[in-house]
Amino acid sequence: MQNRVCELLNIRYPVIEGGLAYVGNGALAAAVSNGGGFGQVGVAGRSVDNFKEEVHIAAESTDKPFGVNLPLSEHSDITRYVEAILEVKDSIKAVSISAGNPKPLVPLFKQAGLKVMIMTASIKHSLKAQELGADLIVCEGFEAGGHNSPLEMTLFTILPQVTRAVTVPVVAAGAISNGQGVAAAFALGAEGVQLGTRFVATKECQAHDNYKQMLLAAKDDATVVLERSMGRVLRVLKNPFAEKIVEFEKSNPTVEELLPYIRGTNNRVAAIEGRVEEGWMNCGQGVGMINSIESATDVVKNLMQEAQDVIASLQRINPLFQP
Ligand SMILES: Cc1cc2nc3c(=O)[nH]c(=O)nc-3n(C[C@H](O)[C@H](O)[C@H](O)COP(=O)(O)O)c2cc1C
Repeated sequence: MQNRVCELLNIRYPVIEGGLAYVGNGALAAAVSNGGGFGQVGVAGRSVDNFKEEVHIAAESTDKPFGVNLPLSEHSDITRYVEAILEVKDSIKAVSISAGNPKPLVPLFKQAGLKVMIMTASIKHSLKAQELGADLIVCEGFEAGGHNSPLEMTLFTILPQVTRAVTVPVVAAGAISNGQGVAAAFALGAEGVQLGTRFVATKECQAHDNYKQMLLAAKDDATVVLERSMGRVLRVLKNPFAEKIVEFEKSNPTVEELLPYIRGTNNRVAAIEGRVEEGWMNCGQGVGMINSIESATDVVKNLMQEAQDVIASLQRINPLFQP
């Protein structure tokens, strides 16, 4: 059984691992792809050499397609990362572009034979992405972990409007952690799902175990939003470090004053080194539904099985849905 997302990426299940700054390693990407989904190695938080190394690890660990993620705001020398992606183009199937204007890059990547996925969070940007030649749009709601659109629209709001507005396939992202989320995303018009936080809590993810254990313990109210004082949105796990930043932002600091708190090294210290009280960690609002650390391969397979069960149970348990 195939749909447009499966056909485009040559995968079994339309489940994509979103770019994961610092923690989106090659072994994780390969494990997702081995489960029939689509793994991605992220450039965020990596040197050019380390990025290429992780792509190499992924390529050695799976014979299935995988991709890379390029958030344009992440590195000041983005050109070097674009060159690195073109260097590894024969190992990868697609590149996802986020956090910036993809216009100059779309033709470049397409000429290199890559599929291009563009992250959006509004009808306007989705139409623009389609016009630029995106093969697929990842529509992300404000529930999602990491940087989100300052428009702050939830997936329930924006997804069905975007899927009606464009003709290219749309993949849903934001707080999807289990089969219920997958089934809901499809009901709202998506043809695939992209998960971030769920894949951090897996065996293959290089995130520190302290971070993974915090994800398991987290409940419905476990996230906070940082960077609003600078017109941005960064959803992270609520911990004393993040709460201190929220408090500091109430004093309307300048960007220079805020930078020492929100810089990427404070993410690395907590997410990779495990010194969780000294930094912040990306996390989506669906974290409360994550109850186990599994192989990412199994996460992909279980998600699809659960989604099928949920769809079947809609008719079984609710008489309103009888044909
Ligand atoms: C740890 C983490 C790091 C992230 N880093 C990136 C990134 O580098 N590039 C990007 O486009 N999105 C990034 N995101 C967003 C994810 O790709 C994905 O769209 C999002 O996590 C989906 O929401 P969820 O976390 O609720 O599943 C990140 C999310 C998390 C949780």
